[in-house]
Amino acid sequence: MGFLLARCIIGAATLLCVLPPCQAKFTSKFYGKTCPNLGAIVRSVMAPAVAKEPRMGASIIRLFFHDCFVNGCDGSILLDDTPTFTGEKNAGANVNSVRGYEVIDAIKTQVETACKATVSCADIIALASRDAVNLVGGPTWNVQLGRKDSRTASQSAANANLPGPGSSAASLVSAFAAKGLSAREMTALSGAHTVGRARCVLFRGRIYSDPNINATFAAARQQTCPQAGGDGNLAPFDDQTPDAFDNAYYKNLMAQRGLLHSDQELFNGGPQDALVRKYSGNAGIFAGDFAKAMVKMGGLMPVAGTPTEVRLNCRKVN
Ligand code: HEM
Repeated sequence: MGFLLARCIIGAATLLCVLPPCQAKFTSKFYGKTCPNLGAIVRSVMAPAVAKEPRMGASIIRLFFHDCFVNGCDGSILLDDTPTFTGEKNAGANVNSVRGYEVIDAIKTQVETACKATVSCADIIALASRDAVNLVGGPTWNVQLGRKDSRTASQSAANANLPGPGSSAASLVSAFAAKGLSAREMTALSGAHTVGRARCVLFRGRIYSDPNINATFAAARQQTCPQAGGDGNLAPFDDQTPDAFDNAYYKNLMAQRGLLHSDQELFNGGPQDALVRKYSGNAGIFAGDFAKAMVKMGGLMPVAGTPTEVRLNCRKVN
């Protein structure tokens, strides 16, 4: 009877992990004995990197999102392409866009010196993104640890899984639902667009032809994003407090000043409006929901059976 019960529990656990998306149970003390200074090392690299260039905080937050949304938080985004291997770095949403790889390398170098072959690159991204949020003025939380690094990456999964700037509200909801994240969690996580920059090529359509846009805002963005050319010109997501992690993103949406079409979709007379109003009126509720949703997103795992390791160099498999 006991044996049968045990088999049942193991069977159920296996089944849960075969069905994507798989949420793992980690612990914030995973490296407590094997790398006790890990948190301090990560912070000691992140703090000067963000002080030197505040946008780096935003870039690292995005790196975590783009890692987790493609076969789980497994460091797959960090693998460099080689003549015989095509990874995620050159996927549409990542190429010439995702930044911060050098900062992760710098952290990894120091972590390897202190605790050889112990800490995964995936866990380093999770810790670095928590620090990134906090260093630009956002909340902090305990990072659950124990991830392993993938031995592979998928450009096609990156192209299929990462939502684009032209997305509708319904497609955003379903892209996050496919990862086990609710519409509320999607709306909270999108608040990361209170920091960072986007390229003209990704919001040109919005500032010249979206109806749901503040005219003064559109005219201001058009100054540096012409109808032809200037594809790489950058604009801040939040032009009031561009490098501060606050709830201004939601205030902007209510003023029809969302930078991407996909941003403004969260306040367009649809089901997310009420939550946008709530977050815009209460920074604390937003910060709490954001932190919880980051922990949940950080629990996304590769499907069971995916070969993993602790990579020694985040850019290549061992
Ligand atoms: C909801 C769906 C989302 C869409 C459609 C989206 C799309 C984009 C796009 C198009 C950019 C600009 C890229 C470029 O100019 O090259 C961007 C930047 C950014 N995204 Fe998202 N994003 C989404 C969700 C998220 C989430 C969940 C996070 C983090 C939790 C996030 C964090 C960021 C940050 C911080 C930046 C600025 C990065 C920098 O300045 O380097 N985004 N996003």
